Amino acid sequence: MTTRTVGIDDLGVYTPSHRLDLEELARSRGVDPAKITIGLGVQQMSVAPPWEDAVTLGANAARRVLGGETLQRDEIGMLLVATETAVDHAKPVGIFVHELLGLPASCRTLELKHACYGGTAGLMLAAEWVRSGAARGRKALVVATDIARYDLHSSAEFTQGAGAVALVIGEAPRLLALDPVSGVYAKNVYDFWRPLDRREALVDGKFSVDCYLEALDGALDDWVALARPTAPPAAACGALLYHTPFPKMAYKAHARLMAHEWRRTGRGADGLTDATEQTYAALVDPWLGAARRIGNTYTASLFFCLAWLAETAGDRLPGSTVGLFSYGSGCCAEYFTGRFAPDSAAVAARIGLGNMLATRRPLSVEEYEWYAHPATTVQPAAGEAPAIRFLGIEDHKRRYARLEMHS
Ligand code: CAA
Repeated sequence: MTTRTVGIDDLGVYTPSHRLDLEELARSRGVDPAKITIGLGVQQMSVAPPWEDAVTLGANAARRVLGGETLQRDEIGMLLVATETAVDHAKPVGIFVHELLGLPASCRTLELKHACYGGTAGLMLAAEWVRSGAARGRKALVVATDIARYDLHSSAEFTQGAGAVALVIGEAPRLLALDPVSGVYAKNVYDFWRPLDRREALVDGKFSVDCYLEALDGALDDWVALARPTAPPAAACGALLYHTPFPKMAYKAHARLMAHEWRRTGRGADGLTDATEQTYAALVDPWLGAARRIGNTYTASLFFCLAWLAETAGDRLPGSTVGLFSYGSGCCAEYFTGRFAPDSAAVAARIGLGNMLATRRPLSVEEYEWYAHPATTVQPAAGEAPAIRFLGIEDHKRRYARLEMHS
């Protein structure tokens, strides 16, 4: 291993062009809307129409970082697609994305799975591939893509969402340099899972929250032992990002991180509540804007927080440090840190997430329910078609269409 500076060179986002207002869903389910907007902290969710799946979401995110002046297709030597919305038990989402993006044949391509942790797993594997020198100057494309689906009328229904984030990983990154030491925690638990014959996930909701928080403690213990930090995360970082199935979870996570620090340094409870509230308001809450409006995107959730931070902080980014916590049910978790690069504000200015969210079409509850279980194969109306879309299944084979691509 050398001391190469490695990290995220560019970042592309995509979320479907349809959204559901969750106060409207709450009213139609007989739930107090305040439970959703205050209790869970979420306002809207993106809804995937029948012509979108994990392949199209991922490819539509990745095309936003390809073909410009900064990245040519033949520079990519590895494509890792992380998802828990797989479309086949054997054929990986990645190989469809590889074709739809026109990537070179000399490109290691595969799908990764560990629930919502898969995106971080891809990021870490790609960073280590680059750091080791095996990349020989090439870059890795890591795509985190998911549609969060639970049964209609279940309590988890309010924590759905859809979207994808594509990360370009390389040396001398223009967006975020990753610190090489991170903290990891793994343990077999049945908190959230999706058996092979089911489209919607099963979840033991309250237990999943406990597992997430226990995993955060474990990852922080590991990080402290390996990194031997001179300052705690809330003092060292200008922003703290957490996997965010719903924004209140980020609050619970942050409270747990602060309690971990208080315990580690042998302080009593004095001042913990005030410090938690102040640091949450300054370091966590401002970056939850996308999560509040998109909902859960499983593997992509943490990276939508990163995208929102990058886009929103703008000129304050360069030189600032961020701490990131990733949790995947089942479970595996990781705490890691990075520093924004001198060019990061320019890279962030091209993400375009705010505009994408503002131009989504609102759905009625009836339309949302129909999209969840469409009676027929349906294609988008004129003007609604994304650049890459799912056409349907013929002879057990999935078919996709591209409207246009960069050269
Ligand atoms: N006004 C304001 N707040 C209200 C309220 C009202 N009228 N009514 C209830 N609330 C509050 C509750 O007090 C509670 O707040 P606290 O957690 O701070 O106590 C909050 O609203 C939620 O209420 P409940 O706990 O009663 O909600 P619920 O039974 O409907 O379950 C849930 C919530 C467990 C998160 C459920 O939505 C779920 O199972 N979601 C999917 C699983 C999930 O997201 N787990 C997260 C950890 S696992 C993970 O992160 C991986 C992943 O992505 C899946």
